[in-house]
Amino acid sequence: MKDNLIAPSILSADFAKLGAEVDNVLAAGADIVHFDVMDNHYVPNLTIGPLVCDALRSHGVTADIDVHMMVKPVDRFIPDFAKAGASYITFHPEASEHIDRSLALIKEHDCKSGLVFNPATPLSYLDYVMDKIDMVLLMSVNPGFGGQSFIPATMDKLRQARKMIDESGYDIRLQIDGGVKVNNIREIREAGADTFVAGSAIFGAAQESDAHDYDSVIGEMRAELAKANNA
Ligand code: DX5
Ligand code: ZN
Repeated sequence: MKDNLIAPSILSADFAKLGAEVDNVLAAGADIVHFDVMDNHYVPNLTIGPLVCDALRSHGVTADIDVHMMVKPVDRFIPDFAKAGASYITFHPEASEHIDRSLALIKEHDCKSGLVFNPATPLSYLDYVMDKIDMVLLMSVNPGFGGQSFIPATMDKLRQARKMIDESGYDIRLQIDGGVKVNNIREIREAGADTFVAGSAIFGAAQESDAHDYDSVIGEMRAELAKANNA
């Protein structure tokens, strides 16, 4: 399995000082920046678009930016996010009429691609596109909001996705998104995830303590991951 990547979701950051928030979380040891895009159509919430991604790049962010598109239709924004500096672009297969075409569009723009699976979306969407993706993202909550609880059935789904990826022989990351905390991250790793999105667990903890540094919660997550039986 791949090394662990911790991907703070900026959905729970303080948007009034987003550049500093991203700098701080990366300085604290985060690996990639998870960027949640919502359109009040595919999901019942509205967040940020390519201008904000571009602003983070202009601010000096060099880490991978992992754009999780919760938008429908999908294709319209792929070129815009690529130009804005996205590293990964992932989308929900139900939101695209032409999944293969959307994946090809991401690749044409030199970004890494991925499919995102809602809790009740079957993994069979992967059957004919394993050779065209760099990431599988399993949602462990229904998309739209931070701060929800991890849906336990996702553990079995992670094991299935891990098996499919291993059997495919392709170099694909397995990401988990929703309700990831210090107290469940080890079990999530053991079920097969290698890339861990965490929003409220990282930004919420530091804001509550008013510490504004994220070292302790990211350090605790890494310590838990190191204890996993497949670390
Ligand atoms: C939900 C988003 C998540 C969200 C996770 O639709 O995709 O990335 O920010 O938040 P937490 O970690 O608080 O569950
Ligand atoms: Zn997300």
